[in-house]
Amino acid sequence: MRLLKEYPGIVLDAKYLSEPVDFEQIFGRSGPVHIEVGSGKGTFLVSQAQAQPDVNFLGIEWARKYYRHAVDRMGRWGIKNVKMMRTDATDFLARFIPEASVDCWHIYYPDPWPKKRHNKRRFVNHANFEHILRTLKPGGIVKIATDHKDYFEQVKEVIAAKADQLEEIEFVPAAGANEGEVVGTNFERKYIKEKRNVFTIAIRLISS
Ligand SMILES: C[S@@+](CC[C@H](N)C(=O)[O-])C[C@H]1O[C@@H](n2cnc3c(N)ncnc32)[C@H](O)[C@@H]1O
Repeated sequence: MRLLKEYPGIVLDAKYLSEPVDFEQIFGRSGPVHIEVGSGKGTFLVSQAQAQPDVNFLGIEWARKYYRHAVDRMGRWGIKNVKMMRTDATDFLARFIPEASVDCWHIYYPDPWPKKRHNKRRFVNHANFEHILRTLKPGGIVKIATDHKDYFEQVKEVIAAKADQLEEIEFVPAAGANEGEVVGTNFERKYIKEKRNVFTIAIRLISS
């Protein structure tokens, strides 16, 4: 694997970012901003960024191994509209992302934390969702997919608590999704092979 420093245009270091961030400055251009939480090996980003070259994508991944894999992949493909950041998405969301600055949040197969006492670690919870809605532009979208039924129940409960601000919309499959897939990520492919069910939801922030 090449050294990450060969891809300075892709890596973003939270240490050097202003609070709150200026996406236009980060991407060097204006345009829609999409953020993926827990990008894993970057499979969604690599295909979606090529399908939507006018969109500025930010992938957040805290696992060093996956993060490095994703950065290397974007670099080798010469993808210009993706930035990758190795950080905790919860902290970044609360501290760094300005109000009404994001067009779409992508949350695909987040860690399920299946044990009851660990449920509070799930990314989609009331506190994080409050911030997600704060950061969405009017008409902005949140797309979530999970194989975990209990987590999906939690997702629906979190969304229901904000129902007056949201409308459910069709979950349009991602650009890299093959037949029978919704996003086409590594984890999704593994789960489909294991014949697990996949649950999806897409919601839009109603513009007032
Ligand atoms: C089950 S994997 C799914 C990866 C990818 N989305 C996919 O579908 O193949 C969940 C990923 O989210 C990352 N992750 C979990 N919590 C995170 C957080 N708070 N901030 C950033 N990344 C996180 C994990 O390191 C892991 O790579």
